[in-house]
Amino acid sequence: MSLITWNDQLTVGVEEIDEQHQKLVQLINGLHNHMVAGDASDIMSKVLDRVIQYTGFHFETEEKLMHVYDYPDSVAHKKEHSDLVNTAVALQQKLATGHGHITMETMHFLQDWLQHHILGSDKKFANYLKSKGVH
Ligand SMILES: [Fe+2]
Ligand SMILES: [Fe+2]
Repeated sequence: MSLITWNDQLTVGVEEIDEQHQKLVQLINGLHNHMVAGDASDIMSKVLDRVIQYTGFHFETEEKLMHVYDYPDSVAHKKEHSDLVNTAVALQQKLATGHGHITMETMHFLQDWLQHHILGSDKKFANYLKSKGVH
């Protein structure tokens, strides 16, 4: 069973962002599947790498749009992004050196973070973009 089920509430109404969020949900669900299967930490480490890489790409997309459309709340929004990246990179370092593993607690943290961030900061940002004619 998937950890996160995509639902319309998660749609922010800006196509590029919505597509990337769906892809992120898929990647996090994939990580969860590997965890449930009890895969070894080297595999988990590779899958987490892919999640981190795509997350970085997604944050860049949003942050470029913030810059282009002069988003007034960009500092707080970017801070949320960088806090997550720092947490994920710390986890990745633990995994890569064999000092940690991905647990259900980790998965719930990622799930909660993504849902809260999309429903809060990303929706607010998307509403701003839509007010500037971006869809
Ligand atoms: Fe965001
Ligand atoms: Fe986002």
